Amino acid sequence: MIPALPYQNYFFWGLTMSFWMLCTASANKCAVRHEVADCSHMKLTQVPDDLPANITVLNLTHNQLRRLPPDNFTRYSQLIILDGGFNTISKLEPGLCQKLPLLKVLNLQHNELSQLSDKTFIFCINLTELHLMSNSIQKIQDNPLKNLKNLVKLDLAHNGLSSTKLGTELQLENLQELLLSNNKINSLRHEELDFLGNSSLKKLDLSSNQINEVSPGCFHTIGKLFGLFLNNIRLGSSLTEKICLELSNTSIQNLSLSNVQLFRTSNMTFSGLKQTNLTMLDLSHNSLNMIANDSFAWLPNLKYFNLEYNNIEHLYSRSFYGLFNVRHLNLKRSFTKQSTSFASLSKIDDFSFQWLKSLEYLNMEDNNFPGIKSNMFTGLISLKYLRLSNSFTSLRTLTNETFTSLAHSPLLLLNLTRNKISRIDSGAFSWLGHLEVLDLGINEIGQELTGQEWRGLTNIVEIYLSFNKYLQLTSNSFALVPSLQQLMLRRVACKNVDISPSPFRPLRNLTILDLSNNNIANINDEMLEGLDKLEILDLQHNNLARLWKHANPGGPVYFLKGLSQLHIINLESNGFDEIPEDVFKDLHKLKSIDLGLNNLNILSPSVFDNQISLRSLNLQKNLITSVEKDVFGAPFKNLTNLDMGFNPFDCTCESIAWFVNWINRTHTNISGLPDHYLCNTPPQYHGFPVTLFDISPCKDSAPFELLFMINTSFLLIFIFIVLLIHFEGWRISFYWNVSVHRILGFKEIDRQAEKYEYAAYVIHAQKDKDWVWQYFSPMEEKDQALKFCLEERDFEAGALELEAIVNSIKTSRKIIFVITQHLLKDPLCKRFKVQHAVQQAIEQNLNSIILIFLEEIPDYKLNHALCLRRGMFKSRCILNWPVQKERISAFHHKLLVALGSRNSVH
Ligand SMILES: *[C@@H]1O[C@H](CO)[C@@H](O)[C@H](O)[C@H]1NC(C)=O
Ligand SMILES: *[C@@H]1O[C@H](CO)[C@@H](O)[C@H](O)[C@H]1NC(C)=O
Ligand SMILES: *[C@@H]1O[C@H](CO)[C@@H](O)[C@H](O)[C@H]1NC(C)=O
Ligand SMILES: *[C@@H]1O[C@H](CO)[C@@H](O)[C@H](O)[C@H]1NC(C)=O
Ligand SMILES: *[C@@H]1O[C@H](CO)[C@@H](O)[C@H](O)[C@H]1NC(C)=O
Ligand SMILES: *[C@@H]1O[C@H](CO)[C@@H](O)[C@H](O)[C@H]1NC(C)=O
Ligand SMILES: *[C@@H]1O[C@H](CO)[C@@H](O)[C@H](O)[C@H]1NC(C)=O
Ligand SMILES: *[C@@H]1O[C@H](CO)[C@@H](O)[C@H](O)[C@H]1NC(C)=O
Repeated sequence: MIPALPYQNYFFWGLTMSFWMLCTASANKCAVRHEVADCSHMKLTQVPDDLPANITVLNLTHNQLRRLPPDNFTRYSQLIILDGGFNTISKLEPGLCQKLPLLKVLNLQHNELSQLSDKTFIFCINLTELHLMSNSIQKIQDNPLKNLKNLVKLDLAHNGLSSTKLGTELQLENLQELLLSNNKINSLRHEELDFLGNSSLKKLDLSSNQINEVSPGCFHTIGKLFGLFLNNIRLGSSLTEKICLELSNTSIQNLSLSNVQLFRTSNMTFSGLKQTNLTMLDLSHNSLNMIANDSFAWLPNLKYFNLEYNNIEHLYSRSFYGLFNVRHLNLKRSFTKQSTSFASLSKIDDFSFQWLKSLEYLNMEDNNFPGIKSNMFTGLISLKYLRLSNSFTSLRTLTNETFTSLAHSPLLLLNLTRNKISRIDSGAFSWLGHLEVLDLGINEIGQELTGQEWRGLTNIVEIYLSFNKYLQLTSNSFALVPSLQQLMLRRVACKNVDISPSPFRPLRNLTILDLSNNNIANINDEMLEGLDKLEILDLQHNNLARLWKHANPGGPVYFLKGLSQLHIINLESNGFDEIPEDVFKDLHKLKSIDLGLNNLNILSPSVFDNQISLRSLNLQKNLITSVEKDVFGAPFKNLTNLDMGFNPFDCTCESIAWFVNWINRTHTNISGLPDHYLCNTPPQYHGFPVTLFDISPCKDSAPFELLFMINTSFLLIFIFIVLLIHFEGWRISFYWNVSVHRILGFKEIDRQAEKYEYAAYVIHAQKDKDWVWQYFSPMEEKDQALKFCLEERDFEAGALELEAIVNSIKTSRKIIFVITQHLLKDPLCKRFKVQHAVQQAIEQNLNSIILIFLEEIPDYKLNHALCLRRGMFKSRCILNWPVQKERISAFHHKLLVALGSRNSVH
């Protein structure tokens, strides 16, 4: 039943929401966590006065504060960081720092400050960062920053400053970063920078100013200048050259000249940098068209060189002369894109890179070189990483000579994606014996892989071949690269994967194999045989459905058998409608199974039983109607992600009650739960979210648990009864008989004493008659009232008539059994007398029987022979004939007592 509950829920939810909104609107609380108070975006016009006094960070950004009155901060004397950005603060009072002696970071970006007076920061000695970006400070007079002895970072970008002059005397001796970009500075003069005479600047950012004049000695007045950023300024060649000259003999290490309209470099442009230790140079985004020979001959210490996004038409053989120490060279999109009439000419002269002896990383992506000439890379004796993605226009075939120029490079990675390569000849990579990663993805390769293509790749670890035209495999395709660990063959119209021996057979070290999107329909069970290190297998978007059908000729194909290390398997979109029960049996380590977008409906109960370490299961967009415990109990145990959306769930107790119950209790991440999990049947719930299925009516028929409980209870009770009957059955039946006779109306035959003819009837074995005679007749003689019925005497000798016995027993007040081994064996006693006596006893009550043991008889023998037990009788009715003569009188006395006792159960 889908209950009416959801609507109530929505109602309460709505109510809660509006209440919550009301509350927050009126309270308007800053969020305080771990001594950090976030009061941003709260339309505040005043500093809140109700925050914990021990906060160390106060965020007041994006409000409507006009001032920061020092008194309002008295309370927050522990503040270390005060962020007042994005307000309309136009005035700063000296008292602020006085109230905040521990303040280290003061951020007032995006405000309306225009004036900084000498007093403004007078108490801010502990400040290390001051952010005044995007205010309207146009001029700084006198020395407002003089007391900021600990300041490390000062951001004055995006103001209206027309000069770099921030003071008239030496100050800011600990400053490391001075950011002055986006101001109106148009000249660099030494008298406007000399206040930094004691500073060591790691970064001086003057980008996006309109600098057109650099006066002599300007950089030398700065104590030490390690990094200078002059991006987005129209410097051109001449000003660039001048700046470099000014930098001569400074400690400059990083120089960024990105987008400075440097269209060409000559052998003089950077000559000024000869007397420096420049390690980083950024010349990106310059439309740089021409690099004359020896342009960088002055930069023997350069390590990082960025030339990306330029327009270089031609690289001369000495363009890079002198860059002996460059490790990292970025030539991404550095060369002209338009095909000129000289397109067929090479843009890079042979031996152009021969100077770059230390180069390890070369990026030449997104260019359009015609091809690779025989000495293009010659001399790159340290090169390890070469990125040539989308670099060539006509590198159609990789021949055994294409990479000769890399023969002496210790290349580890070669990226050749997106180059329209259509063919790899045998031995194409035979020069690259160190190569570990080869990316040939997204090309147009269409050929049979004989295996010779990889000849010489003795250290290869990863080969990417995904997204090519077609690859026909042979048994030897990978025979020469047994070191391979990752092989990507996605969407390559892979042919012949079912040959024997398998193409993958030599790849004993393979951990990742991608065969997805190949429309593969035929594979055999040896394809992956022996790949016992395989961890990730991608087989999605193929056509493997037939292989797992019962009806497949020769039975299902178990192509996953033995992959004991497999962690992740993707089998999405294969048309599967059957999964053989034991297909995942060996895969104990599986963490992720993707079976989405198939046609699965009913799964056999134990199909996932061994997947106890499963973390992620995807079965979305199948035809699953029921989610039952016997299939999903095991794999759901440790799951962190489940996707079973878009299945036609059957919302009945039998099909999804367990699932819904599990959803309600699990912490597993189930995305799209409300929208993607809908009932399909029964018709009245079509389209309802599965989560709204009410499982409470299912509980009665929660059949198995209940049945189990009932069954076990029955079993336990049964066992108890059996045991009870076994050990105490005699007692039960005995008392049962007694009760039945009572209840069914046997009158208690407690007749008057005079009704009895005898005091007792003595039952004994024939062989014990002497003892009976000897013992009982003297008793009769002593006491005339005592009269026993002794068979030997009172019946005609030998003629024991049964009827007479019955009558005699009936007319006896008590029945005495003289128990000996002989009695136990006497047939008449066993069959008739005892039974009758007991019958009589039951009618008359138990005390009417007296047992006299002439010898020791174990209880079980007694029970076995006569169906009597000692426990049936009161102890005074059980007498043992003493061995010692002197005790006979005591025995005698006891017998008299027993004879005299009333016939009563109580
Ligand atoms: C800061 O004050 C709040 C209450 O005002 C208190 O709960 C918290 O423990 C204090 N933190 C420290 C580090 O003293
Ligand atoms: C203050 O809050 C803004 C916006 O929420 C955030 O961008 C900024 O980083 C915060 N400042 C500090 C110091 O945490
Ligand atoms: C902040 O200080 C101003 C004046 O200094 C005072 O009028 C105002 O009440 C204070 N606000 C708070 C929240 O303490
Ligand atoms: C600077 O901070 C220290 C603690 O780090 C403090 O003792 C000192 O008083 C502060 N100085 C000023 C001028 O506020
Ligand atoms: C710079 O190149 C010119 C020719 O373009 C040459 O005459 C001059 O000697 C070169 N200067 C240096 C320092 O190499
Ligand atoms: C460059 O570095 C060397 C050694 O590290 C040093 O001796 C020399 O003074 C530095 N030159 C400059 C201009 O700083
Ligand atoms: C390259 O292959 C051709 C045949 O295709 C062969 O004649 C030539 O010797 C090979 N060159 C090298 C360096 O192996
Ligand atoms: C090769 O380069 C392409 C484009 O930059 C990149 O997407 C891909 O990840 C690279 N391949 C490798 C193996 O690094």
